Amino acid sequence: MIPQSFITDLLNRVDIVDIVGRYVQLKKGGANYMGLCPFHNEKSPSFTVSPTKQFYHCFGCGAHGTSIGFLIEYSGMGFIDAVKDLAQGVGMVVPDNDDKIPPQQRAAQQAQSLAMTDALNQACTFYRAQLREAPNAIAYLKNRGLTGEVAARFGMGYAPSGWDNLRSVFPDYDALALVESGLVIDKVDEDGGNKKRYDRFRERVMFPIRNTKGQVIGFGGRVLDSGEPKYLNSPETPLFQKGLELYGLFEARQAIRDAGYVLVTEGYMDVVALAQLGFPQAVATLGTACTSTHVQKLLRQTDNVIFSFDGDKAGRRAARRALEACLPQVSDNKTIKFLFLPQEHDPDSFVRERGADAFEQEIHEAMPLSQFLLREVSTEHDLSTPEGRAHVQFEAKPLLQAMAPTSLRLQIVRGLASLTESTPAELESLFELSKPVSVVRRAPPRQGRPKPIGLELQMLRIFVSHPQLALQIDEAAQQSLDYFGQESADSLRHLLQMAQDLGEHGTFAALSQQLKEVTAEYDSLIAEIAAEPESDIEADRVWLSSALRQIKMDTLKQELNQLFSSGLTPDQVSARYREITAQQDLLAREAAAEMTPR
Ligand code: UTP
Ligand code: MN
Repeated sequence: MIPQSFITDLLNRVDIVDIVGRYVQLKKGGANYMGLCPFHNEKSPSFTVSPTKQFYHCFGCGAHGTSIGFLIEYSGMGFIDAVKDLAQGVGMVVPDNDDKIPPQQRAAQQAQSLAMTDALNQACTFYRAQLREAPNAIAYLKNRGLTGEVAARFGMGYAPSGWDNLRSVFPDYDALALVESGLVIDKVDEDGGNKKRYDRFRERVMFPIRNTKGQVIGFGGRVLDSGEPKYLNSPETPLFQKGLELYGLFEARQAIRDAGYVLVTEGYMDVVALAQLGFPQAVATLGTACTSTHVQKLLRQTDNVIFSFDGDKAGRRAARRALEACLPQVSDNKTIKFLFLPQEHDPDSFVRERGADAFEQEIHEAMPLSQFLLREVSTEHDLSTPEGRAHVQFEAKPLLQAMAPTSLRLQIVRGLASLTESTPAELESLFELSKPVSVVRRAPPRQGRPKPIGLELQMLRIFVSHPQLALQIDEAAQQSLDYFGQESADSLRHLLQMAQDLGEHGTFAALSQQLKEVTAEYDSLIAEIAAEPESDIEADRVWLSSALRQIKMDTLKQELNQLFSSGLTPDQVSARYREITAQQDLLAREAAAEMTPR
């Protein structure tokens, strides 16, 4: 966690007018600056930036926030990255409790990344200039149907033949930053003595890869003819990690907003060609499988993600991987779809052969995630036999377990249940789905529920004050919370789950921060706890176990009272009677043991 004090400091030092001004053309108008809102389409400016409040606000669409919020919304960075980015701009170093890097080393790292960015930028400029001088490369791109305009939009270039052209770009060709950024390769002689340095990219059309800030962080280079490898990519560096980056995302941002969805393809050429042919909202993974981080990044930009996969075997495999990457990110207000092109096609070739309308149609008919998942698990098996249906369930289990407890998960469970002749409840228990696999984002509604009092209130208070104590609550204890009635029990269990998810180091601060994000239900309790002296965790622990025991005792007693009128057979009654009294004995012994000093 970055301390709040640092955030406050940072927001005091950066100027939101500069930050927003990097991306939006602003004009002074009275006390504020005005511009065209980057978050919705408009012809006259209703987007204002206030230098005194250090806040932006759009009167058209209601978007608003701080500099941090702007970066998050506009470039899709995460909170931490946005803070780091802003801090770097004003020479502040983000304190980070988790990493113990001394400030000097951190400064060195920052210098290194600056040097790398600088080198990549210069190289990019060089390659672009070289493209203008290279008729063969221009002919290649023209032949593939690209215009100079689209090539310029993507900063495309050409690395000419020759082993050390970059020597003309960098006064110090031996600089460390060149090899660190992957622009050159150092070859060490067999005898270990001489080091020979040469350009990584030669005779290739160059696609610069940018991060969400627009900085060049790497390149992909394509051969002009049939050489190998077809694409050569920058190696992974501290700036460039393929599992995190998407080609074309920076260029596509506005188009993604305009279109209301992003199209994820597999290739550089697909992105550039699609942009040229009327689909500028496309991005590509960088020759790697789609990761959960990719999906997360995309879902920050838009609520609708459509994957397009090549019609070949590799494409199908990639689709399966993408499905798996998506599952943990699924939420009910987002849609993820999958589009499968015919056998021999990728998006580039498809649009060229069949036209933009046909592709638009494919996009329109893309398969929703739920359907794709059900198809994936069921195609290989015979649904007419019990074994086949069991196998389908077997395959579906890990996929459903990877999903957060969303309505969509329930819908898929329903679909699967009807396919496999089961009930949703059977599947949920078979797959152990009742337990949320991640933090439940929505609190159960509590309209009409009386305010918690007594035992229940005290329990809530303890779990919020000392989330660690939630870790000692086992399954049976969770069940016994039904004592408070269905709604209260659900609410308590929900709180418990959040507290448990924080782990051993869960604190009041961390939990309350998180609770604030999901519900206002705990606001007054949080305020109350914050105002009071801290309660003693050991005392609370003891109180808690005795309270839980009390609840179990009462529950058992109630059941005992009603046992004879429960409609069970005499045999069942006596069996259950024995169970209940045995449990009562056990609880009584536990209570006695706890009373004796250790
Ligand atoms: P494809 O082989 O499908 O190429 O690779 P493509 O994108 O359609 O390119 P064109 O149309 O033949 O020019 C898809 C992606 O896989 C990665 C690249 O990111 C490429 O865009 N790839 C492919 C490599 O990294 N290296 C390779 O040798 C081949
Ligand atoms: Mn292609």
